[in-house]
Amino acid sequence: MKIGVVKEAWPGECRVAASPKNVQRLIKQGFEVQVESGAGVAASFTDQAYQDAGASICDTRAAWGQSDLVIKVREPMERADLDLHEADLLSEGGTLISFIWPGQNKDLVDRLAARKATVLAMDCIPRISRAQKMDALSSMANIAGYRAVLEAANEFGSFFTGQMTAAGKVPPAKVLVVGAGVAGLASIGAARGLGAIVRAFDTRPAVEEQVQSMGADFLTVEIEEDGTGSGGYAKEMSQAFIDAEHALFEEQAKEIDIIVTTALIPGKPAPLLITEQAVKNMKQGSVIVDLAAERGGNTAGAVADEVVESHGVKIIGYTDLPSRMANVSSDLYGNNICHLLDDMGKAEEYRIDEEDEVVRGALVLRGGEMKWPAPVKKLAEELKKPEPAKVEAAPVAAAEPKEQKDRGPWVLMLIGLALIAVGWTGSEGFLHQVTVFVLSCFVGYQVIWNVSASLHTPLMSVTNAISGIIIVGGMLQLGGPLNEPATMLGVVAVLFATINIAGGFLVTQRMLKMFQG
Ligand code: NAI
Repeated sequence: MKIGVVKEAWPGECRVAASPKNVQRLIKQGFEVQVESGAGVAASFTDQAYQDAGASICDTRAAWGQSDLVIKVREPMERADLDLHEADLLSEGGTLISFIWPGQNKDLVDRLAARKATVLAMDCIPRISRAQKMDALSSMANIAGYRAVLEAANEFGSFFTGQMTAAGKVPPAKVLVVGAGVAGLASIGAARGLGAIVRAFDTRPAVEEQVQSMGADFLTVEIEEDGTGSGGYAKEMSQAFIDAEHALFEEQAKEIDIIVTTALIPGKPAPLLITEQAVKNMKQGSVIVDLAAERGGNTAGAVADEVVESHGVKIIGYTDLPSRMANVSSDLYGNNICHLLDDMGKAEEYRIDEEDEVVRGALVLRGGEMKWPAPVKKLAEELKKPEPAKVEAAPVAAAEPKEQKDRGPWVLMLIGLALIAVGWTGSEGFLHQVTVFVLSCFVGYQVIWNVSASLHTPLMSVTNAISGIIIVGGMLQLGGPLNEPATMLGVVAVLFATINIAGGFLVTQRMLKMFQG
């Protein structure tokens, strides 16, 4: 089976659908690969590099027309240089994998249907755990979020990290990231890496922990409304919530130097979050990078593909951020395709399995027959599953908690009865100790239960450090002769408590250093 890697014709597009490394992998998967001459030049991949990887080099028409499967990045477009549409270059009944955006490109889909094409859209891969490695939207958004910070740094007239020099002191830059999805988290990571103070806001409470674990502060508004939609995406917020966001950002803008906006609700125009008043409130020389500029923008005044200046603030609306890092984005995009082809059985068992929810989600046309959108019910069911369970494993995993739940009241009753029996028959001293034990279990449980999972390790280490109270008990026993069991136990208690205290402090110190970055 022959794969054709074609050159991107989209003006300014530097990516290519496969790097030489990806080509090697495709060949290992059993495919034959041909690459259009010059396809990788803009991403710094020479024809020679592709040949060394095992591909053959061909011209445009051969790459499109003499391949069983064409892979590319941008959706096919009109080619003025060839005086035809790229869809017509595809062989009749051929297969295409690329970004398609079928909802917005009905004419293109019709054109491809007329070629009896089979089309898989990389933008329609469902966002489920199993499909993460094929999720090109995420891999590109990750790059875009990182690059957004670099673009901001380029326009910003100061340092990100604070500086203390003989010539004077410069405070660290303050960065606000609005929308902490894939791109937003990458922006937080990049800005923190450069030493800025970072704050972030998102409508999905689930991301708060992720934001904090990356060293940023999570901002909130007074109104309680959960923005979690289906499939890891957000849902549209009420007007009252958006108003509260406007007020929050207008206030924040007074001290923030750089804003990166990435807020998106699938299938909707981007919500306007940074008002003109917020832009006005920013200091002269501040920078906003609006990743949603292509969809109307999150910022008042943002223009797609341009840098505009408004009230002394530069607003960057680039829509080609992944293409500005074409080398790595081509490689990662190619990886996404390789994983998809792995899922589709590689060359030997290549198939379009409509039972596979990833393939079904991405399938737009099959032999010219319209397949998009995938049936909502089936996909929705799959999207609800956090992790695909092995068929045999699922019933066992599902049965266990149920059984535990049924046993719960019995266990509680038994414990209750045991406690009553102890109270009835036990000595006063023993009863006193049991009461203290039960109460400390209860208090300890209540204290730990509300601590987020990511803080359990520092909590454990600091608890270890303060558990040194044991050492006092041990020391009290040390007065007696060494051959007495109580003294020996005292020695052991002192030894272990010392290790606990020293180790606890050491680990806490390390954890703190990690959070201080
Ligand atoms: P995502 O869906 O992972 O993240 C979007 C985030 O925005 C979600 O966490 C969502 O909860 C949040 N959000 C939605 N409404 C909000 C509101 N009212 N206030 C605050 N947060 C809100 O999307 P991803 O993949 O991170 O992409 C983000 C944006 O970047 C998209 O608009 C995408 O089109 C764009 N993008 C731009 C590129 C460029 O070159 N400019 C390249 C790649 C992506």
